[in-house]
Amino acid sequence: MLISAEEIDAKLAEMGAAITRDYQGEDLLLIGILKGAFVVMADLSRHIDLPVEFDFMAVSSYGSATKSSGVVRILKDLEQEIAGRHVLIVEDIVDTGLTLQYLLRNLQVRKPLSLSLAALLIKDGIERPPLEVKYEGFHIPNEFVVGYGLDYDGKYRNLPYVAVIDLPE
Ligand code: IMP
Ligand code: MG
Repeated sequence: MLISAEEIDAKLAEMGAAITRDYQGEDLLLIGILKGAFVVMADLSRHIDLPVEFDFMAVSSYGSATKSSGVVRILKDLEQEIAGRHVLIVEDIVDTGLTLQYLLRNLQVRKPLSLSLAALLIKDGIERPPLEVKYEGFHIPNEFVVGYGLDYDGKYRNLPYVAVIDLPE
């Protein structure tokens, strides 16, 4: 185990409080990136004391089970227009950052009033395009992790904590 359920909840409470402060009196749309972010979205949003709205995008990046290629395919697009709205993307983890870089470009074109990022986990020691993560949870070492929405080969998303998994060679 790398991060316990209690540590995650305490961190999400801090992040939620910061979001509540920053978007006071504003109209905020949370966009969760499926599938991984569904757990973070559910728990983070319940620490946000604002009348937020929700939408989801599902993306798949071509690559192996444990490496993203940066070529992103949109499997499910947003149901709402985001023009003129404050938008906060909620992600489980920033690894290569390629998925988010693609999404930010894709969403920026739709002219939101603001577009920011929240991510529970950020992998350290990785070269990635510059990405500003406005609300970040934990920095973790460059290892493959599962749980709390994150999968290996489709499984372990329902673990209530984040764990390092030993991958077969
Ligand atoms: P990126 O484009 O490499 O930043 O990562 C894209 C997606 O890969 C993330 O949203 C996760 O769904 C998945 N991912 C990256 N690192 C891990 C990991 O350590 N465990 C499980 N999934 C991961
Ligand atoms: Mg995944």
